[in-house]
Amino acid sequence: MDKLLVEGGAPLSGSVKVSGAKNAALPLMAAAILADGPLTLTNIPKLGDLRTMGKLLKHMGGEVNLYPESGDGYLEEGVLDMSRLANPEAPHELVKTMRASALVLGPLLARFGQAKVSLPGGCAIGVRPIDMHLKALAAMGAEFDLTGGDVVAKAPKDGLVGVDLRFDSVTVTGTENVMMAAVLAKGRTVIRNAAREPEVSDTARALVAMGAKISGIDSDELIIDGVDSLKAASHSIMPDRVEAGTLLAAVAMAGGRATLKGAKLNDLAVVMGKFTEAGVFLRAENGDLTIEAHRGLLSAVNVTTGPYPGFPTDMQAQFLALMCTSKGTSIITETIFENRFMHVAELKRLGADVTLEGRTAVVKGVERLSGAPMTASDLRASASLLLAAMAAKGTSEISRVYHLDRGYDRLDDKLNSLGAKIKRVKAS
Ligand code: EPU
Repeated sequence: MDKLLVEGGAPLSGSVKVSGAKNAALPLMAAAILADGPLTLTNIPKLGDLRTMGKLLKHMGGEVNLYPESGDGYLEEGVLDMSRLANPEAPHELVKTMRASALVLGPLLARFGQAKVSLPGGCAIGVRPIDMHLKALAAMGAEFDLTGGDVVAKAPKDGLVGVDLRFDSVTVTGTENVMMAAVLAKGRTVIRNAAREPEVSDTARALVAMGAKISGIDSDELIIDGVDSLKAASHSIMPDRVEAGTLLAAVAMAGGRATLKGAKLNDLAVVMGKFTEAGVFLRAENGDLTIEAHRGLLSAVNVTTGPYPGFPTDMQAQFLALMCTSKGTSIITETIFENRFMHVAELKRLGADVTLEGRTAVVKGVERLSGAPMTASDLRASASLLLAAMAAKGTSEISRVYHLDRGYDRLDDKLNSLGAKIKRVKAS
């Protein structure tokens, strides 16, 4: 297992490109199941979860060509042709490493009328059930049998039927799963209290390019009129707003001045607002976002996570790390996942002063963190440990870096290109 050795204290400068969004790429890859022809995706980030999704689609009999080589390296592209899909199954080995595998359920039911998907278990950030996905698909006529840890699903003989449904609470992949099922269902589906995350909209736009009829995109009410088939299409994956936010947090914490290229600023509004409130200087120009910050001069800001357009839970760990060295006391409240503070115990090893009270973290800023060995527990927690290590005095070692590699496109290389001192020690 790779480790990162981080020498803290280096300010950051330069410019870096934001990669395509993991959480858009995953449903988009699942959407390929729906089409009669190939789905070509561009701006695909290079990361572990997408390789896992590629393996899953191949396991089902799809032709998957991710990251084709060109003369000077690989391309951020992929062609996914699921027209000869023969085996509508997502086995446990693949689902256990990536919960988003459940995203194949809706598309498989819609196109093949059946599916067998291993039930995703808990993960480091909480229990994360898929009951709302199943309830909505059942309302469309699907029948489920839960045996041996698998969801064995069947659509009615004549296919799924459109329904008017409301999610009890906002679910991102639940909305995507049901939207993908509905595009080939009979009649109209209305999804109320739909997730408005930009990644849901990006998936919806790709489905429209494939021939789906979806209105209400970007709102919490999606109206989908089923069509008989979807065709080949191309789609460029939206920029990753969480990667962009993580890079902003890195510069804010380490200090310096850097420019993000290709970030989509609208999607980042709330996050940018919190950075500005803390005293970070941000300037948007010609589609680029420049950040300037002086280490140790930021002030404490309170944050409560929420569904989009609220503050993203996927940025909570990184913002909490930043607050560890800001002046004053910050209250960070996590409302989406019940156990998403795994980074706190590790950050304390660097000297952070954080107290957990249920879903709230009380962070008292300290002047300087100091390096220590740490263990990554989940994707965003890993990123927060890396940011803290970069700002700390001395050297840190972060183990279990595979969590970081699952969801970030070479984050350590990107940070090194800005002047960070991160060395990857390859697993022997
Ligand atoms: N929930 C249920 N039942 C369900 C579905 C969700 O109780 O059927 C609960 C969850 O346990 C959670 C809340 O509802 O407490 C919201 O979960 P949601 O379904 O929105 O999360 P998700 O779709 O599983 C996606 C992202 C996560 C991101 C969340 C929230 C993907 C592949 N994953 O997960 O991304 O944190 O939405 O925005 O899109 C990450 O990238 O690090 C990550 C965890």
